[in-house]
Amino acid sequence: MTTKPKQSNFLSRRSLLGGATALGAATTLRHATASEVNPDNLPPNVPEWTPYLGAGVDVNPYGMPSEFESHVIRRNVEWLTASAESSVNFTPLHELDGIVTPNGLCFERHHGGVPEINPTDFRLMINGLVDRELILTLDDLRRFPQANRFYFLECAANGGMEWRGAQLNGCQYTFGMVHNVQYTGVRLSDICREVGVKPIAKWVLAEGGDSAGMSRSIPIEKIVDDCMVAYAMNGEALRPEQGYPARLIVPGWEGNMWVKWLRRLEFGDMPYMARQETSKYTDLMKDGKARMFTWVMDAKSVVTSPCPEKSIVSKGTQLLKGLAWSGRGKITRVDVSFDGGRNWQTSELHGPVLDKSLTRFTLPFNWNSEEMLIQSRAIDETGYIQPTIQQLQAERGFNSIYHNNSIATWMVNEDGTVDNVRLG
Ligand code: MTE
Ligand code: CO
Repeated sequence: MTTKPKQSNFLSRRSLLGGATALGAATTLRHATASEVNPDNLPPNVPEWTPYLGAGVDVNPYGMPSEFESHVIRRNVEWLTASAESSVNFTPLHELDGIVTPNGLCFERHHGGVPEINPTDFRLMINGLVDRELILTLDDLRRFPQANRFYFLECAANGGMEWRGAQLNGCQYTFGMVHNVQYTGVRLSDICREVGVKPIAKWVLAEGGDSAGMSRSIPIEKIVDDCMVAYAMNGEALRPEQGYPARLIVPGWEGNMWVKWLRRLEFGDMPYMARQETSKYTDLMKDGKARMFTWVMDAKSVVTSPCPEKSIVSKGTQLLKGLAWSGRGKITRVDVSFDGGRNWQTSELHGPVLDKSLTRFTLPFNWNSEEMLIQSRAIDETGYIQPTIQQLQAERGFNSIYHNNSIATWMVNEDGTVDNVRLG
């Protein structure tokens, strides 16, 4: 066999990011892959990739996605934050299937950049109201009994820009501060036994080792219930962006509490009132007072296709896809409406349906160039039903940022394009 002659790449791919420059009217943030078909590659011809040997095994020591998938990336909104070190990028939910977020696509949110930590120098200090204060190495952590659990992490600010109306015309930008990963690590209940927590200890301060000095107070009941210190995600070491070499896992609770680059756990008898639980991550209510400690992420869902980045391209049968999650347990049902919430159909949930994990749902539907107002509504095992934005606003007013779990509306236009709109 001969090797493949150098050919020009027939498929031209482009990433079109329309300009969204101002808050206010729904702005366009659409990207697409444009590809030209090479008729020589189509049946009954032998396509160009068949007669030649492919690339050898030594080319990719760490495997990467196909170059034709180069549009499947995290994206940020440049005007959103003043600097890249204290910023956020978003998971491309609309490009994913199943419930696992690939490590390289997990959204990042950090307040002081990503520190570079040599795992040899990593230490986790445990102090305060315990019988035996300890300093653990990464090796020490790995010798504890192991837990392997899938959990979603959602930033409390996910969708926060949408409180007063539709702002960003993209599923990625309005819902992409969530990821779902299988974590490997140590249960905090095992660490608690090892250090001997004193009965008067009621709170734990989790402290990050990054320049942001991120720290949060977590009640002891949650710590021993299901919190973990994770050192691996989806089978490999944590990514630096996600807290390498160790982070705190606080299942179902707001992402800010999942302290990355974890360096210390202090047991105390009161909440510590750290910056991120007082001046930030509190909810401004209707009467101007701030609500403290809203930890749980309530049930939420999103239709990931069709969506503003995923137009409908041909008439006939379509497959609607989406994700649902709840910080209170398992998702039991997801309803879908095509007429802005008047009528609802029950979608199919795809297993595994896990506790405090993203859950996949699908629903076939027919489209004949008519306008549609697509919504999804999640229900969890406590019976909680995902609210409309009007229901949330009635309770919490219009000045909130965090904890917007309201139902979104995607408007399908007659040409198959889709827009993020606000009803009512
Ligand atoms: N931990 C530290 N040490 N520093 C941070 O800036 N950001 C928090 C949390 N943990 C943060 C942190 C916030 S606001 C969120 S939403 C999650 O980490 C984001 O986790 P991710 O970057 O893995 O998506
Ligand atoms: Co956050």
